[in-house]
Amino acid sequence: MTFYIHTYGCQMNVRDSEAVAASLVAAGHTQVPAEDAADIVIVNTCSVREKAEEKALGKLGLLCASKRERPRRIIGVMGCMAQRMGQFVFERVPTLDFAVGCRAARLIPCVVADIEAGGGGRRWLTTDISDHDVPQGHLESDLAAFVTVLLGCNRRCSYCIVPAARGPEYSRPAKEIVDEVACLAERGVREVTLLGQSVLNYGRQREPVFDAPAPVGVAFTEPFPRLLEVVAKVPGISRIRFTSGHPSGCTEELARAFRDIPQVCPHLHLPVQSGSDRILKSMRRGYTAEQYLAAVERLRSFVPDIAITTDIIVGYPGETEADFEATRELMRRARFDNSFIFKFSPRPGTPAAQMSDDVSAEEKDRRNKVLLADQDDIGVANNALWIGREVEVLAEGPSLRNAERWSGRCGQNKIVIFDPEQGVGRGDLVKVKIVRANPQTLFGSIIV
Ligand code: 5AD
Ligand code: SF4
Repeated sequence: MTFYIHTYGCQMNVRDSEAVAASLVAAGHTQVPAEDAADIVIVNTCSVREKAEEKALGKLGLLCASKRERPRRIIGVMGCMAQRMGQFVFERVPTLDFAVGCRAARLIPCVVADIEAGGGGRRWLTTDISDHDVPQGHLESDLAAFVTVLLGCNRRCSYCIVPAARGPEYSRPAKEIVDEVACLAERGVREVTLLGQSVLNYGRQREPVFDAPAPVGVAFTEPFPRLLEVVAKVPGISRIRFTSGHPSGCTEELARAFRDIPQVCPHLHLPVQSGSDRILKSMRRGYTAEQYLAAVERLRSFVPDIAITTDIIVGYPGETEADFEATRELMRRARFDNSFIFKFSPRPGTPAAQMSDDVSAEEKDRRNKVLLADQDDIGVANNALWIGREVEVLAEGPSLRNAERWSGRCGQNKIVIFDPEQGVGRGDLVKVKIVRANPQTLFGSIIV
């Protein structure tokens, strides 16, 4: 059969969709580039905000309506919303064929085979959250690939659905990760992004993730920096990125890994959520604004050019004007390269959903806009600092807007547009001197 996976949400979901697609291809199905041509359509969902769920439910409704003309079509839902809603998803979308939660994705090929054999009529629901055996296959590789290193999340941030949706933390053994990266490198991948909800927590639980303890006198002893070190040794991998960070993981060892492992890109996505200590405490983030800034400074003292990006929630329950101003102040001091701003959305079952959602929609909107404008100003100033300097770019090929110029990303994860040079190919690392910048993009030419 032909299939199409529609993906909402974060990079984690993009990665899970790829692995499920690979498992369906292995079972003999064919991926098609458009939903209309597909016999099986799966929606991979996000629960992080109510809007994301509404979008997915709307999409599923439309897809299920298409079964009137195409009765043999199979429509399924996977990911965080499938996990969170369980059987209630069938109340919202009655003709859905299956709902498979975050840790049960490996069952999808069997579920599809069962539905196909039975001609429909039977619904599948699997939401066991304890499994670690999630699919890790890859499709035909591009230059860059995602590799999941940590499943789930053990933090208990008051607003967040992720621990409920993705289950407890589990670190994959380092050997399994290195083998996967080596396999990708052989297929032409040059850049890997190691994924985990709180990726710096890698290997911090009791189970060992390395075959042997770190030998005495080696550069790194903490599990995540060690993982970076072993992944960097895989031949062919020229860049390593990872996401998302938490200040508790921004140790001196991590800062050294950024500085001393050449493949590790100088960029960290380090969600701060708020700049008010009172709100951070209610959010149970486990740090104060000063501690967050100290973590950023620690990284910058080792790698002055590191790019830091963040997530911020506006309108969290009880957020006053003074709390909001504290967030603006933190943004000014942290000089983020980019910020993703979200309006608080109460998620069922989380502690913050028990609190009064007392910041009005208009006020959330206003605070959102103020922070976006603040970030734009900071972004312009940050990018202007690159003019006249060199960055290292992974050449990706002709730019989408102007095929005569090439584009790629620098280590700091900014898009760089440059003139192609003879002898430079896709996948090469090139040095580019920046001559112009706007808030989102740098422009320059290759220096030889
Ligand atoms: N409401 C709004 N934003 C949220 N996020 C997580 N939970 C919520 C919520 N309930 C944001 C956080 C997180 C990002 C992925 O989504 O900023 O870092
Ligand atoms: Fe990703 Fe969180 Fe959305 Fe799940 S709920 S898809 S983990 S952002």
